[in-house]
Amino acid sequence: MTAKQPLLEVDALRVDVGERNVLKSVSLEVPAGALVVLMGANGSGKSTLGLTLAGHPRYRVTGGSARFAGHDLLARTPEERARAGLFVSFQAPPEIPGVKNNLFIRTALNAVREARGEPQLDAFDFLEEARGAARHLGLPDAMLGRPVNDGFSGGERKRNELLQLALLRPRLAILDEADSGMDVDGVRALVALVHELRAAGSAFIVVSHYQQLIESLEPDAVLRLDQGCIAERGGLELAAQIARTGFARTAAVAQGA
Ligand SMILES: Nc1ncnc2c1ncn2[C@@H]1O[C@H](COP(=O)(O)OP(=O)(O)OP(=O)(O)O)[C@@H](O)[C@H]1O
Ligand SMILES: [Mg+2]
Repeated sequence: MTAKQPLLEVDALRVDVGERNVLKSVSLEVPAGALVVLMGANGSGKSTLGLTLAGHPRYRVTGGSARFAGHDLLARTPEERARAGLFVSFQAPPEIPGVKNNLFIRTALNAVREARGEPQLDAFDFLEEARGAARHLGLPDAMLGRPVNDGFSGGERKRNELLQLALLRPRLAILDEADSGMDVDGVRALVALVHELRAAGSAFIVVSHYQQLIESLEPDAVLRLDQGCIAERGGLELAAQIARTGFARTAAVAQGA
């Protein structure tokens, strides 16, 4: 990858889900260390984009390309994408019964550490680091010993996604409505974590519907997804306009109605 090449480069990406074409032609770039906010009405395809980039088998790419850190992202398995430094959080994090949270996160962390040429963490060192990170995020230690998200409340699940983010320290994190369902302390912890990771060089695509969160993240760009394409690109003024007038009116204005 040359210095000028963006970390993520998506070009004319077309994605079908089941019988339906959801993304028609999505093009976007995320430079290393940048934070891009992705907005769009319910059902516009924001989660589809994130899960497609993660390599979820339900999403069929039928055109276009996506390059990550200079490589063809779409040619890689989901595991290879994660090892290359891509992290995608779930809008609705699933339960994984029978798999202990601490073992799950340590296995993922050691896989990315291996890819980064860093030494493996044993159970003891991992637990110390994980407990510290969990404390920061307001997650009780006991949650590390339970199966992944098993019986976790909605907000606890979202905090558990942030715990993974904090420990994995990815090159690019796609956060799908990471704020939804979280209380004010959780949202504050989210903002602090994003700023901390950005200062260390991580880039972000943040999907959110909430103006206050978007402002506090100080994004480099705000994109609006509509009709399967990036319909508008702007800064905080675009997020403010959407908050003021709603998606339907914003779309009509953009189309000159
Ligand atoms: N298996 C499927 N068959 C047909 N359509 C589907 C299928 N799965 C998802 N969709 C549709 O794809 C569209 C995009 O969904 P997606 O979850 O990406 O939207 P979103 O922008 O993330 O919305 P939200 O803001 O509500 O999270 C929706 O209209 C959804 O109903
Ligand atoms: Mg969604």
